[in-house]
Amino acid sequence: KRMADMDLTEEEKRILEGEEGEPKRISIRILKRIGEIKGADRFIPIASAHLVGCSYQIAGEAGIEIYKKLAEQGARVSVPTTLDPGSIDFERWREFKTPEEYAERQIIIGDLLEKMGVIPLWTCTPYYLLNVPLFGQDLAWSESSAVVFVNSVIGARTNRMSAYVDLCASILGKVPRFGLHLPEERRGEILVELDRELSDLFSDVHFPVLGYLIGQIAEDKIPVIAGIKKANFDQLKAFSAAAASTGSAALCHIVGITPEAPSSERAFSGRDPVKRIRVGINEMRKMMESMSTYDGGEVDVVGIGCPHASIDQIRRYAELLRGRKIKESVELWICTNEMVEKMARRMSYIDTIERAGGKMMVGTCLNDCPLSKWNFQYLVTDSGKFAYYTPTTVGTKCYFTTTKACIEAAIKGRIEGE
Ligand code: F3S
Repeated sequence: KRMADMDLTEEEKRILEGEEGEPKRISIRILKRIGEIKGADRFIPIASAHLVGCSYQIAGEAGIEIYKKLAEQGARVSVPTTLDPGSIDFERWREFKTPEEYAERQIIIGDLLEKMGVIPLWTCTPYYLLNVPLFGQDLAWSESSAVVFVNSVIGARTNRMSAYVDLCASILGKVPRFGLHLPEERRGEILVELDRELSDLFSDVHFPVLGYLIGQIAEDKIPVIAGIKKANFDQLKAFSAAAASTGSAALCHIVGITPEAPSSERAFSGRDPVKRIRVGINEMRKMMESMSTYDGGEVDVVGIGCPHASIDQIRRYAELLRGRKIKESVELWICTNEMVEKMARRMSYIDTIERAGGKMMVGTCLNDCPLSKWNFQYLVTDSGKFAYYTPTTVGTKCYFTTTKACIEAAIKGRIEGE
């Protein structure tokens, strides 16, 4: 398709003329331009949106200006729209040493977006809370980990949106039809086969490691992974976040597990893979080693709950911490959202965690908050996404390991290199 070729309905033409107000006119103009560049033929309605530009770290002062202007112009979202983590824990920002003026700017962003009708969920895992997509639904989602999850695990359809463009789609209630909205663009392209030995022992820690590896080797191709026998929700969440961090992945099929891959043939829609890659224990070991930027030893902070922890994960952390004490010199921070935190508190998991000395970090995460006042140098995590980003965002050395080893590191104040 050539540029400027999108077919518009009469209603869309009226919106473009400004008949439904400035926010919608600006939104359709921006989305139409993107659609034309990407070869879209028309707009399609979306079931929901999820925004990333809600964090002050991402939006900055420019974002506040944009949101102020849109709110003054009466902008309203047209579909259920949720927010990614912000840059503060709204209740405990003082405990996390967030500068007051920084917290104020984040609160302003939240207020402006709430005026537009967004659901202030402040989480990267909206798909198990108040924004739960269905198979085949078209969406406008940002937050790369959630995009991989909803495309792959649920079979919903969204391109990797970016800040502000996601809000335009939410205001318009539509996106240009291209990329992963088209069934033919969702076919697998490269085959990643786990060898027998790896397949037999594949467990919890392997999901973020494989995700990390897939992000790197898939480049811009859609991978089909064969050899994972079973997976649970949290493991697929960890996989999705890691895969989205190290590459441009937005969709990964896992044979026998994700809905568009009941078989390898179906995942490829009958075509041959353009490339085949075998992965064994050695590749996984090397990858896992490369995810750490130091060899173990000291630890200042242990960060878990990336993506935001589920109730089941918090139950597990509480079990590992029951009756134990975190070393005084170490911080253990567990990231989650408000709804899970409330439920976990009611179920007394958080009581156990806090008694051991752990802290809940709610509606935000280590990656999004200003942490320079802590002077952390050594961070330990079980998250592929934290392992990828925190050396830059928090400025620490990072050690990647299992969840259990993370908790042990917080208790002992040391991480033993494996
Ligand atoms: Fe979520 Fe923060 Fe991780 S946004 S995916 S907890 S880096």
